[in-house]
Amino acid sequence: MADHGKRTILVTSALPYANGSLHLGHLLEQVQTDIWVRFQKSRGHDCLYVCADDAHGTAIMLTAEKQGITPEEQIARVKAEHEADSAGFLIGFDNYYSTHSEENRHWSEEIYRRLKANGHIASRDIVQAFDPERELFLADRFIKGSCPVCKTPDQYGDNCEACGATYTPAELIDPVSAISGARPVQKESTHFFFTLPALADMLVEWIGSGTLQPQIANKLREWTDAGLHEWDISRDAPYFGFEIPGEPGKYFYVWLDAPIGYIASFQHYSRQHGLDFDRYWQAGSDVELYHFIGKDIINFHGLFWPAMLHSAGLRTPTAIYAHGFLTVNGTKMSKSRGTFIKAGTYLRHLDPEYLRYYFAAKLSGAVDDIDLNLEDFVQRVNSDVVGKIVNIASRCAGFLKKRFDNTTSAELPRPDLLQDFIDEGDVIAGFYEQREFGRAIRAIVALADRANQYIDEQKPWVLAKEAGREAEVHAICSQGVNLFRVLMVYLKPVLPAMAEKAEGFLNDRLDWDALQRGALLEHTLAPFQPLMTRVDPASIDAMLAESAEETRA
Ligand code: 2FM
Ligand code: ZN
Repeated sequence: MADHGKRTILVTSALPYANGSLHLGHLLEQVQTDIWVRFQKSRGHDCLYVCADDAHGTAIMLTAEKQGITPEEQIARVKAEHEADSAGFLIGFDNYYSTHSEENRHWSEEIYRRLKANGHIASRDIVQAFDPERELFLADRFIKGSCPVCKTPDQYGDNCEACGATYTPAELIDPVSAISGARPVQKESTHFFFTLPALADMLVEWIGSGTLQPQIANKLREWTDAGLHEWDISRDAPYFGFEIPGEPGKYFYVWLDAPIGYIASFQHYSRQHGLDFDRYWQAGSDVELYHFIGKDIINFHGLFWPAMLHSAGLRTPTAIYAHGFLTVNGTKMSKSRGTFIKAGTYLRHLDPEYLRYYFAAKLSGAVDDIDLNLEDFVQRVNSDVVGKIVNIASRCAGFLKKRFDNTTSAELPRPDLLQDFIDEGDVIAGFYEQREFGRAIRAIVALADRANQYIDEQKPWVLAKEAGREAEVHAICSQGVNLFRVLMVYLKPVLPAMAEKAEGFLNDRLDWDALQRGALLEHTLAPFQPLMTRVDPASIDAMLAESAEETRA
């Protein structure tokens, strides 16, 4: 890929709810985003990755209450846990913030005021289910009752888990509030709406701008073709969130201030680092803005969010990058099978880079679901990373240390082979840029095969036993180490910890420009440390057992 000069890029992944632990589904997204960001940084671009906890809403308020703590305490606890888990998976956020912040309050109010000034906020009275005991309005998922079709009891909201029927919560037989058990009553209150249909033309243009994945653009077009609806952005007290300016007792719906949390997190960072906030967010900004999200929240990021930004006179995203869901062993993560795996549980048993590698090997630029097949996981990591990539370095390092003072030769026997490896860089960079990580990994592993084949053919371990062939052994092993170095440049976005160990061993920085610096000749290496150990299948069993245990608890 040609060099476009230095780009300025702002990247986000979806804000996890401050209502529970991160699981491997969250990590699929964070790992995907982090690899892309690390790749951009390696290429010398100015790329920032910001995220935050999504701290508002009824569910968080109720969870805190159940535990006898304030919502503020609840979100602080969860934020600390989320940050530790993400760090455990080597997610390199430049800033991790919270939507319950002053910056976010400011921007939520400010954007609301601008929307209102543009005539894009409507209000009207609506009737909703209300819990007369707890005195709060009930979203569909907080109402349960018997299915009107098959009569199975204890069905939540608007669909039946037993027979699959869909209905309105009002049709449930003997509906009760899932919070208090009281029978809901219907009650009227005033709500505020964002008049999305007024921004239909702008959205159609944005969707057609060509930077969205085709699957996303098609989905969004289905919605705009079907006709857009006004979006209810308010909730009645009691609610944990921001009160709407001038409307006592009315709060911004969590999904209004959540994406604004991207702006708030960036602003917090920009103040600490003296960045030009307006350059990033003003209309027509030259900064690239990408939101990595799951396919379940495309409507929020592809309709409401760009429309809000546009109405508020701010820039719209360059693109949104949606990924599919994570399945484990071919099915939805399941608590009863022990495959609902929390990030923290994984980290107690397995190396985070195993999973980073596995996800990378399976990710593409499309919106397809990704399966974590645990047998395949063990096999791929052990055979590709340990068996092929690490092997190149470990089989050469011993000779260099024992016989050549840990210094590489003055010349390489196959500079053409090294050049082939370097020439693949443009193709591999193109794959990373397009989020075709699986294709990048396949290209890298194919190179690793070539490197191993070279060493197998040269048989330095045989030459080492023959007299007078010292120089050849030296050159072959130096060739191997230089090929390994190129592979580690390519893998660094995926395996940052292993790359750091390789940087220590090679006494070199492995950013993309290392490819331009030429081979390491007469270069002293540091003692070789094991870069990665094999996945022990027993650790997988232990992780699954612990996951199953957590569900029973
Ligand atoms: O779906 C979710 O988990 C939301 N908390 C994601 C919010 S993303 C952004 F808009 F804030
Ligand atoms: Zn049913």
